Order: sequence, then structure tokens, then C-alpha cells
Amino acid sequence: MVRWCAAALMLFLTSLASVEAQDRSGAPVFPTPDRPVAAITSPTYSDEKTRDGHGEAERVMNLLGITPGQRVADIGAGLGYYTVRLARRLGPGATIFATDVKVEYLNRLKERLTRERIAGVRVVLGLPRDPRLPPDSVDVAILSHMYHEIENPYEFLYRLRPALAASARVGIIDTDEPTQRHGTPPALLRCELAAVGYRELDFVLLTPADGYLAIFATPETLPQPEAITPCRASGSRSTPTGFRSRPSILAVSPSAWPTRSLAMTMTEDRAQALAHEVVSEESLVRN
Ligand SMILES: C[S@@+](CC[C@H](N)C(=O)[O-])C[C@H]1O[C@@H](n2cnc3c(N)ncnc32)[C@H](O)[C@@H]1O
Repeated sequence: MVRWCAAALMLFLTSLASVEAQDRSGAPVFPTPDRPVAAITSPTYSDEKTRDGHGEAERVMNLLGITPGQRVADIGAGLGYYTVRLARRLGPGATIFATDVKVEYLNRLKERLTRERIAGVRVVLGLPRDPRLPPDSVDVAILSHMYHEIENPYEFLYRLRPALAASARVGIIDTDEPTQRHGTPPALLRCELAAVGYRELDFVLLTPADGYLAIFATPETLPQPEAITPCRASGSRSTPTGFRSRPSILAVSPSAWPTRSLAMTMTEDRAQALAHEVVSEESLVRN
């Protein structure tokens, strides 16, 4: 009898845990970030002339090893500071995705691309928690001065993963400021990326340009969403509560993070990429 009751209790607790792991529609539930999320206030970080004067885009593209033939996503493209420079570097036939969550910004970007006669950019209306990129379509993802605005970084990074080639790199550019002041402290960034399985490869200050570039590798596996323990602004983990008291299966201690990086090879898997899915601009952009 005692054994039967214990088994029933276990079953009950397990079912409660799985209920918590999904919402009513059955979609996985991700932890809420344990730090402020910045509001979207502008489609651009600062004026492009100053950024170019500081060599920002050239330096970032060099550090990410961006060369013709690669498929690159400018996530949170805004008015396209990176998009147009990527187009110049990658040349005709480039595969560039420019995403944003604001239709108005994307329309302004499309006008700019037309004005500057830049072809081949696929403009994608993303969702706050999902970049909505085709599977296995990206060799390099650039998130410039937008990470702190992502509504739920754990869910966004989780949903970005299928779009990334196995050898892809994710480059995050931000300033070392609190998220409410439109930056992301590096320790917080590392903690949040590690929570979803992204491995840090490199971290470079972009001086004289503002901020830093942090480069991460595609996760080999993704955690169970409900097992993710949110990070605090300090970069430490929040005190787990309830069913989230299980440690993240991918929790990585800072000492385990690799620092300087790998020779970057970002060309694998490309052949099958667009065969997989070529999503037309029209099917992705909702006006
Ligand atoms: C400060 S602007 C930076 C624009 C550009 N990347 C740059 O470096 O100038 C931030 C952009 O990110 C966009 N954004 C915010 N959250 C986003 C999300 N979850 N997915 C895609 N774009 C997002 C905003 O709409 C805005 O255009």
C-alpha cells in the first residue's frame, strides 16, 4: 500500500512538472529573464559615419571571418548598418537575411536597399521570441546592439538554433552597460548563452568603436526549456525555485568556457542549405 501511494505521488508530481513545462497550447515554457529587458527605441545604434570612422563593421566582419559564399543573418537589422556592408563584402549572389520585429523599420530598410541598388537581401519579419529563419540556413548570425531588447533571450536563442549550420558562429555586439541602459554585461551574456548551450569562442573589445564582440558556437544539443535556470544581471544563476530547482543540463561553469578561439571554418553544410528551404521574402514579411 505504501509503495503504491509513493508511486502514485511520483506520477502526480511528474505530471505537474510536465504541465508546468508547457502552456495550454502545448508550447514549451521558457523561464522569464531575471533582469530588465530594454524597450525598442530606435532602428539604429548610432550614426554610420562615426561607426565606420571607428572601423566597426570591417573589424567585426574580419573577426567573424566573413567571406563570399557564406550565408549571413543580420538579426535586429534596423536600418541595415550591417546588412549593406555585408552585401558589399559578400558580393553578387550573397545570401543575407535581414530580420527585425518592426514592420516600419523593415520597410525603411527595403527602401534603402532599393535606393542603394542592393539585391539579394531577404527581409524577414521576426517575432520577439523567434527570428523565423529557415532551418539550416545561416553560417554567421550577427546580433548588433539588439540583444538587450530581446523579450525572452532563452526562447529566442533556442528558436535560433535550428537555423544555424552545425559550424555556424553567432556574433553578438553590445556595450558593457546594464540591460536597462541598452547594453549587456559580458558575464550576463555568457551566462544566458551558456544556459541554452552556446559555447563562447572569443570575446574582443571593439575600441575605438563602442562595446564588444562576443562570438559563440552553435549548441550541439539544446536543453529542455523548463530546465533552464535564468541568469541574474550579475551573471550568476537565479536561486532556483519549484520544479526549476533541477540544474540546467547544460549549465556550464565559467571555468569551463573556452576563451580564445578556434580557427573558424564556417563553410560546412552549405550545399544542402537552400535546398532545404528557400523562404521567399513575401512569405516571411508581413506588412
Ligand atoms: C538599436 S537597434 C540596432 C540596429 C542595428 N543592428 C545596428 O547595429 O545599428 C535594435 C534593433 O533590434 C530590433 N529588435 C529588437 N528585438 C528584436 C528581436 N527579438 N528580433 C529582431 N529584432 C529585434 C529593433 O526593432 C531595432 O531595429
